[in-house]
Amino acid sequence: MAHGDVGLELGTRVAEALRRGLDLVVTPAEAVIRPSTREGADYQCNAAMSLAKKLGRKPREVAEAIVANLDAADMLETPEIAGPGFINLRLRDDWLRGRAAELLGDDRLGVPAVSAPRRFALDYSSPNVAKEMHIGHLRSSIIGDAILRLLRFAGHEVTPHNHLGDWGTPFGMLIEHLLDNGWTPEGEHSIHDLNGFYQEARKKFDADPDFADRARARVVALQGGDEPTLALWRVLVEESTRHFQKVYGLLGVELTPADTYGESFYNPYLDEVIADLEGKGLTQVSDGAVCVFPPGFTNREGEPLPLIVRKSDGGYGYASTDLATVRYWVDERGMTDLLYVVGTPQAQHFDMVFAASRQAGYLTEDQTAVHIGFGTILGEDGKTIRTRAGASVKLVDLLSEAVEQASATVAERSSLDSAQQAEVARAVGIGAVKYADLSNDREKDYTFTWARMLATEGNTSVYLQYANARAHSVLRKAEQEPAGEVLFTEPAERVLALKLLQLPGALTATTESYAPHKLCGYLYELAAVFTTFYDTCPILKPDVDPAVRASRLVLTRVTSDVLTLGLGLLGIDAPHEL
Ligand code: ARG
Repeated sequence: MAHGDVGLELGTRVAEALRRGLDLVVTPAEAVIRPSTREGADYQCNAAMSLAKKLGRKPREVAEAIVANLDAADMLETPEIAGPGFINLRLRDDWLRGRAAELLGDDRLGVPAVSAPRRFALDYSSPNVAKEMHIGHLRSSIIGDAILRLLRFAGHEVTPHNHLGDWGTPFGMLIEHLLDNGWTPEGEHSIHDLNGFYQEARKKFDADPDFADRARARVVALQGGDEPTLALWRVLVEESTRHFQKVYGLLGVELTPADTYGESFYNPYLDEVIADLEGKGLTQVSDGAVCVFPPGFTNREGEPLPLIVRKSDGGYGYASTDLATVRYWVDERGMTDLLYVVGTPQAQHFDMVFAASRQAGYLTEDQTAVHIGFGTILGEDGKTIRTRAGASVKLVDLLSEAVEQASATVAERSSLDSAQQAEVARAVGIGAVKYADLSNDREKDYTFTWARMLATEGNTSVYLQYANARAHSVLRKAEQEPAGEVLFTEPAERVLALKLLQLPGALTATTESYAPHKLCGYLYELAAVFTTFYDTCPILKPDVDPAVRASRLVLTRVTSDVLTLGLGLLGIDAPHEL
């Protein structure tokens, strides 16, 4: 049985005390329980301060009433009121020891599954066909994949969908360029350099009017459903998908071609959606384009901003497709929550799409839609990361370099054979890139620094992986299965046990705001606390009391389980040996 978060449990008890003592009904969150840094306190309750005014009483009186009515003697030492009305809470050692021992062998490590699972559609990665993925797609893939794992672990149903940019005017020139290069749908071909291919096509389009005419005619054929044209278009999509899958494989991102719902997928729905918007009287024609003006969006001059749902040439664009996307996932697939992991520059686009969807009734009160935005990655010069030649960085190159750099570190310190070393280098190198991304508040830009992301000290994945490997090494050498009671003989044992019990709270905070950096922060604290435990509490030395050794092995085992689970939820491997 997963008990859940200690802070939440205390909040529930304090809420009961308020009801009993002051006839006041509050939620556990309104009981304001926070971890405490005060000597002798594990948590503090700040509810008296926030509720005093509402009750027309002095905070200290409220605090006294809480303490007098608190039914928590099984869990807490006698609470102490400090200053104007803070209540210091210290968990009883026997309670803490009992709870920590229960984590051994619990595959959810104390984390309850949600009682009301929701159905999430998660749009992430979403690169563009015939173009190399760029840094924004790297971030979307990494963050999206972590969110997928976190929500699923919480007990929700999550359907990922990769909104490939696979439709629109560029495909005319791309297909003509394929033909000029002798491609046929049946032929065996491959594009080594997606960006190069795109640029060649672009160049020809700009320089050669005859080619440009052919390209335009090809767009019309594509949109008209001309079968030979579609066959060539499919070749392009498949070729690009192969490139993307290579990156996903390298990254350990779980997307497969079956998760692809590209822009083209929504094509058959567009006419109907726009007709529906028109029928509901939500559209206006502006400069020949059909637009929706969702309320509350204006430009700098204060004029209403349009969401263009049909261009003046009759074509549909990015916004039309996204409206159809909302409608599809809600109406046809019965999703309750739509998530989009896309760079922050598209924030307004999504805000407007969501607002228009609410107007049209595609989203109702029961459904949420959230744009999970993120900043960019900067080079060490503070500008968007580029190669030395000034081109934008290719993902595959970046990831290969990460593994190479990690191999050097691993080879230096390791006793593993070369196959194991390669596997570990991959876990360390790819883990470092992912963790550097996930451990930063996603809304902010961050600087890509090899030295920092591969540092063995500090908030890095390598530091966590080392802590975990150290735990495994102890467990291997122990020659006994961890079992039995948890004992507190040194301060570090108690600190570690308490930290282990805070996993549920860390996960709730992380999923609530789609903020993987919160989980990273928790795991880093755990690894640091474990390191102190490891340094101050001998385990395998012959003179250690057998019961103390058994207890320390339990704490070591659970620490390794929590680190492995936590890293796994971030999409990072936790090798047993480094
Ligand atoms: N392909 C787009 C880009 O590279 C991202 C698509 C995001 N998803 C969406 N539903 N609009 O910018």
